Amino acid sequence: MQQTILITGGAGFIGSHVLDLMVKKYPDYQFINLDALTYAGNLENLKSIENEPNYTFVKGDITDNDFVQNLFSHYQFTGVIHLAAESHVDRSIISPTDFIYTNIVGTVNLLNAAKNLWNGDYEGKRFYQVSTDEVYGTLGEEGLFTEETSYDPRSPYSASKASADHLVRAYWHTYQMPVVVSNCSNNYGGYQFPEKLLPLAINNIKHGKNIPIYGDGKYTRDWLWVKDHAAAIDLIFHKGVTAETYNVGGNNEWKNIDLIHLLCKIMDKKLGRPEGDSAKLITFVRDRAGHDRRYAIDASKIKRELDWEPSLTFEEGLEKTVDWYLENEEWLNNVTSGAYQQYYEQQYV
Ligand code: NAD
Ligand code: DAU
Repeated sequence: MQQTILITGGAGFIGSHVLDLMVKKYPDYQFINLDALTYAGNLENLKSIENEPNYTFVKGDITDNDFVQNLFSHYQFTGVIHLAAESHVDRSIISPTDFIYTNIVGTVNLLNAAKNLWNGDYEGKRFYQVSTDEVYGTLGEEGLFTEETSYDPRSPYSASKASADHLVRAYWHTYQMPVVVSNCSNNYGGYQFPEKLLPLAINNIKHGKNIPIYGDGKYTRDWLWVKDHAAAIDLIFHKGVTAETYNVGGNNEWKNIDLIHLLCKIMDKKLGRPEGDSAKLITFVRDRAGHDRRYAIDASKIKRELDWEPSLTFEEGLEKTVDWYLENEEWLNNVTSGAYQQYYEQQYV
C-alpha cells in the first residue's frame, strides 16, 4: 500500500528533525507536513528536504475542523505522526487557553478526521501521538517514570498533553483506532526555539547577557539529543505495538545549575573566553509557578522491545549543539528578532 503520512508540527523543533530523517529514509512514502507556522514554526528548519519529491508543506491550523477534515479527504492519509502543539510551559502559565485549543481540540479534530477517513478499515493505518514525560507529574529524589506511572499533570501545558493522550487512547478503546503513544523527556539540539533553557542560555552567553536560572537551580531534567528522539519516533511508528505506550529518555539526569555550568565551560572554550567567564552570567531569578522538581524516565521498555537507545553521550551531544547554534547565527538572529523580544521582556523583566 502507498504510504501517505501526515506529520503535524513539522516546522517545529522535533518535527523538522523527524522529517529530515524520514523523508530521506523512505523515498517511496509521501509526507505531508501540516503546520500553522506559529512563532515556533519555521520553514527555514526544513531546508534539507524542502525540494524532495516526496515532501509537501501545507500551512494550516489543526484547530480548524473543516480544514482538517478536507485535508484528510484530499490526501487519504494512511498514517499520522502528531507533533503539533503549543509546547512551552512558561507560555502555558501566561496564556493557558491557546494550549487547550491546539493540544486538545486540535488532537480531537485529527482523531475524528482519521476515524471518518478510515471508517473502521484499519489495515495498515496508524495514529501516533508524540507526547511528553511531563504528563506523569513530578518525582522526588528517587524513582523513574515508567509506562505504568499514573498521570498527574501539573501545568496547563502538561494537563493539555495529558488530556490529548487520554483522548487518543479512548479512540483505541472505543473505536479500535490503531494508536500508539510515546512520552519523551527534554530534547536538545539544533532548531530549538530559544525560549527553552539550552538555546536561550547559549544565545545569552554569546551576547554576554544574564543566564536566568529559576528558583534554586536544583530542578532536574533528563536530556535526550533530538535526533535520537527522531530515530525513536521512526521506530515506534513502524514497529511499536498498537495501543502501547513507549517512554523515551536519555538516562541522563542533570540539575539545571550543573547543566548550565557544563554549558558555560563548553562556551568558554568555543568562544575563546577565559575559563569561568560565562559562568559569571548565571543569575537566579523568580521561580516558575508550580515548577516540577524532577523528571526521570525509565526507557527500558523501548530498549528491550524495539532495541532503541541514545546514540550519543551528553557531552558529545551538547558540544554538537553548541557548534550548531554558533554556526547558524543567521537562524538564531532571525528567530530572536521581533516578537521574541516582547516575550522575553514579559517573562524575565
Ligand atoms: P515546537 O513548539 O518547537 O513546535 C511545535 C510546532 O507545532 C510548530 O511548528 C508550530 O508552528 C506548530 N503548531 C502549533 N500550533 C499549531 C496548530 N494549531 N496547528 C498546526 N500547527 C501548529 O515543539 P517541539 O519541541 O518540536 O515539540 C513537538 C511535540 O513533541 C509536541 O507535541 C511536544 O509536546 C512534544 N515533546 C516535546 C519535547 C521537547 O523537549 N521539546 C519532549 C517531549 C515531547
Ligand atoms: O520534559 C519534556 C518537556 O521538556 C517537553 O514536553 C516541553 O515541550 C519542553 O519545553 C520541555 O519542558 P521544560 O519545562 O522541562 O523545558 P524548559 O527548557 O522550559 O526548562 C528546562 C528546565 O530549566 C526547567 O526546570 C525550567 C528551567 N528554566 C527554564 C528556562 C526557560 C530555567 O531555569 N530558566 C529558564 O529561563
